[in-house]
Amino acid sequence: MSGRLFVIGTGPGNPDQMTPEALAAVSEATVFFGYGPYLDRLSLRPDQTRQASDNREELDRAGAALRAASKGSVVCVVSGGDPGVFAMAAAVCEAIDNGPDEWRDIDLVILPGITAMLAVAARVGAPLGHDFCAISLSDNLKPWATIEKRLRAAAEGGFVIALYNPISKARPWQLGKAFELLRGHLPETVPVIFGRAAGRPDERISVQPLGAADAATADMATCVIIGSVETRVIGRNGKADIVYTPRFSLGGAGD
Ligand SMILES: C[S@@+](CC[C@H](N)C(=O)[O-])C[C@H]1O[C@@H](n2cnc3c(N)ncnc32)[C@H](O)[C@@H]1O
Repeated sequence: MSGRLFVIGTGPGNPDQMTPEALAAVSEATVFFGYGPYLDRLSLRPDQTRQASDNREELDRAGAALRAASKGSVVCVVSGGDPGVFAMAAAVCEAIDNGPDEWRDIDLVILPGITAMLAVAARVGAPLGHDFCAISLSDNLKPWATIEKRLRAAAEGGFVIALYNPISKARPWQLGKAFELLRGHLPETVPVIFGRAAGRPDERISVQPLGAADAATADMATCVIIGSVETRVIGRNGKADIVYTPRFSLGGAGD
């Protein structure tokens, strides 16, 4: 008998940003799979069990969750943010695609969550108010040449760019290289938003012009949003600047 597999997101880390729908799934499930710090965000009952695994073991975790669900359990796979954005929902789909036929019979329920770029954007204003794209800067799952090509295309197309996974101990130079490349396509004044740990107690938000953007400001808990030529900064006395991208395009880059 096949069970149920929920794939949920906790949101960026502020408990108030987890959706009621995801909370209801947590209440219904009995077995939880996820990266330890994400599972720590849940308040589980004594009858609920958790299997924490390392952040780089997504496919193994997906397989373990699918095996548990195919035996009849109500299982919950937990991601940070939204589970479909650079996270576990795609790993579960990959496992089903390449796994045994019985995994296709599992009742798969993927529930959306608030992704990091939305939490960061809301902190500074509305930088994603017009066309934008999201790119993971991790070259673990794709070649660096592909990332460079996409960055160039996004800048030339006039998109605001949200960068996930900007930097880590194993990937120390990629963000600096991305800024260097983008300086060749965008004005130095374009605002770059560094949103670290948005919604958590250790949140840190800063805005720097692209010409002086310092990659060392970011760590692996940071989502970096690079404005387009149309993104604007409103200065205010004694209050943080507002950064926004108007809803209309004047026909700048990419036209
Ligand atoms: C593997 S991705 C997971 C993204 C997640 N599924 C989401 O929708 O936000 C991890 C990256 O998300 C971003 N991130 C996650 N939580 C964040 C937060 N609270 N504030 C800023 N960026 C965050 C960082 O870029 C981090 O390197």
